[in-house]
Amino acid sequence: MAKDTSGGPNHVAIIMDGNGRWAQMRNRPRLFGHHAGARRVREIVEACPGEGVKYLTIFAFSTENWKRTQAEVAGLMKLFRRYIQREARDLLANGVRVRFIGDRVRLDDKLVRLMDELELLTSQNDRVHLTVAINYGGRDEVTRAARRLAYDVAADKLSPADVGDETLPKYLDTYFLPDPDLVIRTSGEARISNFLLWQSAYAEYEFIDTLWPDFTPDVFAKVLTSFKARDRRFGAVKV
Ligand code: IPE
Ligand code: IPE
Ligand code: MG
Repeated sequence: MAKDTSGGPNHVAIIMDGNGRWAQMRNRPRLFGHHAGARRVREIVEACPGEGVKYLTIFAFSTENWKRTQAEVAGLMKLFRRYIQREARDLLANGVRVRFIGDRVRLDDKLVRLMDELELLTSQNDRVHLTVAINYGGRDEVTRAARRLAYDVAADKLSPADVGDETLPKYLDTYFLPDPDLVIRTSGEARISNFLLWQSAYAEYEFIDTLWPDFTPDVFAKVLTSFKARDRRFGAVKV
């Protein structure tokens, strides 16, 4: 019998945190934790349809993560490239549409090419929409959006009087996404770290102690169950 997914979130966003500590606890290098974390992604993506989750957005690398050692940054970039190369075929076959958000300008050409190719390859899929945030920062995204909006105004494509609630979201990297209903952060840290600042205005937050490499589909299912018990009011009063 299919699981009852009514009242569940349509869009879940995850701050995948704790890979480094997971590795440290095993006396292994931080990259070992990143590799373990990457393996979890597939299981969580695959769990989405059964849980009624249509959109999954994951934070893989922030605009602040460049502050890490050169070795860790290079290892992560290599991991992203290899991940795309290895997973592309299964993502396509499993009906996953993949898109990337974040500023691509600072990413190396080879990675950007793989990202573009995967987006194109999976563009007809509709079973699950997976969005991966790489070199993503909420402030950077809003700044880039404001800049493009300003160019459109300067080019007379848009009048300042027409800038309303609906305008800025069209310029954000996430223009194709509904707002997240639920944002999960693993590893016990209770902060946003610059993730989906605009989009999460009315998201529910779940901060859990589990480190990302230990985030199994069972843990995911429990978090989704607790979401259903929440009362979302969006500023109104229930009568
Ligand atoms: C999250 O794990 C992955 C990235 C930020 C790339 P961390 O690398 O932040 O792991 P901790 O927080 O140091 O344990
Ligand atoms: C947030 O985790 C970014 C990602 C999960 C990609 P960080 O580990 O970089 O965040 P801080 O430094 O704890 O705020
Ligand atoms: Mg961290």
